Amino acid sequence: MAHTGSTEPVRIGIVGLGTVGSGVVRLLVDSADHITRHAGRPIEVAAAVVRDPAKDRDCTLPAIPISTDIATISQDPSITIAALLVGGLEPARSMMVELLENGKDVVTANKALLAEHGPELFELARRLGRSIAFEAAVAGGIPIVAAIGECLAANRIESIRGILNGTSNFILTRMEEDGSSYAEALALAQAKGFAEADPSMDVDGTDATQKLAILSHLAFGVWVPWKEIPRTGIDTVDIDLIHYAAELGYRIRLVAVARRSNGRLAMRVAPALVKIGTPLAETRGAYNAVSIVGDAVGRMFFHGLGAGQMPTASAVVADIIDTVVGRTAITFRTTGLLSADTPAAKLAGGDASERHFLRIVVTDRPGVLARITGILGDHGISIASVIQHDPIATGDAPATSIPPDVALVIMTHSCPSSAVHEALLSIDRCDAVRGKSVCLGVLDE
Ligand code: HSE
Repeated sequence: MAHTGSTEPVRIGIVGLGTVGSGVVRLLVDSADHITRHAGRPIEVAAAVVRDPAKDRDCTLPAIPISTDIATISQDPSITIAALLVGGLEPARSMMVELLENGKDVVTANKALLAEHGPELFELARRLGRSIAFEAAVAGGIPIVAAIGECLAANRIESIRGILNGTSNFILTRMEEDGSSYAEALALAQAKGFAEADPSMDVDGTDATQKLAILSHLAFGVWVPWKEIPRTGIDTVDIDLIHYAAELGYRIRLVAVARRSNGRLAMRVAPALVKIGTPLAETRGAYNAVSIVGDAVGRMFFHGLGAGQMPTASAVVADIIDTVVGRTAITFRTTGLLSADTPAAKLAGGDASERHFLRIVVTDRPGVLARITGILGDHGISIASVIQHDPIATGDAPATSIPPDVALVIMTHSCPSSAVHEALLSIDRCDAVRGKSVCLGVLDE
């Protein structure tokens, strides 16, 4: 719905007054003059729908009806736009359907909903002549949806590489910078409002994978169900890995990658070593980063807060303004996002070549290192460097503890991931190997 040509206030409904919803109300109220200038008319919060009306809110609410019933918004003909700011799949999906069916344009930050039900919801919106805007669903305050969908539209996008989960990045940064434990860092991320209601979706890589699926649709014009993207979270990273990476000149980041590879898309979300001094390694705390290569523009780098109340509210309010002035409707109609004829992505296998970082915990006795390097050699894997700290000298094992366990940390030269995984299957079957070995990809630029 284009709302141009009038100076009457536009009335919007807010569904969900949690961290993001409260931030949106604060921004709309506190920055009303500035927002009116950009929207061409005032934007008025007309009603809110919440789960618990008695709960304290992190904003001063205007005098508006607050109810638990979505009909307060969907059935009010004076409300033309709804900001759907609740997480999870249900009741978010049913609410989105009800809002669209009752003539509302919808702005949302819910990437799980789009990654799971995007095709059916976008089709419904198109059929009803409505729009869905979702800048806040990916990378919080970074305008990456507009950048890929509109500003870089002239380019054939070759690759996307990004840090897309603020909570994971916050946890990794706290662990590396002040030695916080994983649990302490996660609790702090939750207290700061970065984490999802269910933080396992942050730390197991689900959130970043859903965001990668959405960005890949915009960039490559294909649809990939997020569950088909190989995914490992930071719940597999411990402090020793972080220290070994630092010793080699790297940091560990949860990196989402999608790139063209022989007519297919190579995609994954996994912790990776990123070289200290490169932009991804310098992305700290709740910041997100996205590096994109387009054939005309070359490499671009976006960096900004990817989680938290006001950065996410910034993106939601920009979408509300775009919907008010009619830009969203035009883009939504012309780009045919997630339409029935969107092709499915063809995913590439795991045979891409890169350097790999391995941690293999072994019993420290003669011949073990030779056995392991022998297996790597048998798979055509060349070793660039090896670290083994003397467990007695470091105090990790008493002199009487013979033979102690020790970590072998190996950096390989570039080799196919499939070869490394095959080799590790053999290595992990050796008597001297304790537990499952860790393998992380290495990004040198
Ligand atoms: N929980 C998300 C993150 C924020 O930590 O990045 C919303 O996308």
